[in-house]
Amino acid sequence: MDFRSAEAIIEALRKRANEGVFGYARQSEQALEAVVGWLDKRHHWKINPEWVVWMPGVVSAIHVAARAFSGPQEGIFTFTPIYPPFLWSPQSSGRRTVTCPLQLTESGYQIDFDLFEETLTPDTKVLLLCSPHNPVGRVWTREELMRVAEICLRRKVLICSDEIHCDLLMGPNVRHIPTATLSQEIAEHTVTLMSAAKSFNLPGLNCGFAVISNPTLRRQFQEAAKGIVPHVNIFGYTATQAAYADGSAWFEEVLEYLRANQDLLYHAVNEEMQPLSMIKAEATYLAWIDCRGLEQDNPRALFEKAGVGVMDGTAFGQKGFVRLNFACSREHLMTAVERMKKAIHYHTNV
Ligand SMILES: Cc1ncc(COP(=O)(O)O)c(C=O)c1O
Repeated sequence: MDFRSAEAIIEALRKRANEGVFGYARQSEQALEAVVGWLDKRHHWKINPEWVVWMPGVVSAIHVAARAFSGPQEGIFTFTPIYPPFLWSPQSSGRRTVTCPLQLTESGYQIDFDLFEETLTPDTKVLLLCSPHNPVGRVWTREELMRVAEICLRRKVLICSDEIHCDLLMGPNVRHIPTATLSQEIAEHTVTLMSAAKSFNLPGLNCGFAVISNPTLRRQFQEAAKGIVPHVNIFGYTATQAAYADGSAWFEEVLEYLRANQDLLYHAVNEEMQPLSMIKAEATYLAWIDCRGLEQDNPRALFEKAGVGVMDGTAFGQKGFVRLNFACSREHLMTAVERMKKAIHYHTNV
């Protein structure tokens, strides 16, 4: 996000910096308490502090999960389009990426459960689930999650549920359901990855965590990370604690702002940028814009040339789309809209 961090976080970091001692950090009890409190209050998920394994980031945790829960050349499954590290982390850990496309229907992106089952190879050991889903913005319903989990349990596939966007709900009535809350049995087969980084704009401070209630899985995960993954640093703990304990008011304000930004963008894209279209994201501050009507091989280049930085869908496994981050000032967003309109006008009139 482009926004200045919450004062409570900045103040906590200042205090920490003023201590002037920057040694290795130990797990902070207060940060742990703040995580437990936040998950309970926001997501009605009562966790035991022992389940938390701190990590310097969610992407490194994805790599660790790949190594902990699958063997060389075994399959790691994900639905596409998807946040690019889901596609390349299995390979860089010597595993295979197995993918299944989400179906774009009248009512938005959906999982084709038959296709999902067909695509799951017998050697697929892990499902990397993105919940809520980056880039399509879906907040999976309880029914959808139950069906995914039921298939995974039956096929002995561990669920690694990346829930980093879980707080960023764009509709007031949308509710995120942590996969591990579906049932005790599902929790036993689930590793949840989270972080305050997206919600509070702290990604540069390198702090995230896994929640793993099954002690065997937790031990395997910790073993795979040992000696390779660095410890979380003191500023990461400090910021995470301040965010979850004292950042609610800031966060609510940002959420309202993001929702209004999405409304503005949604109307501009669908009403003033034909042939582009977008579906409203139920969560995340990312717009997944369908540019296929432009018949342009590289829509990213078109918008970049016009002065708007977007990510190309190809990196996510779906050509013809771009992803635009709308977590910026309204003024900035309006500038982007104007530049995109001009680029489309020029493109469609030459
Ligand atoms: C789904 C998802 N997971 C993980 C990350 C990055 O997490 P981290 O910076 O903690 O590695 C992102 C950032 O965009 C994301 O969208």
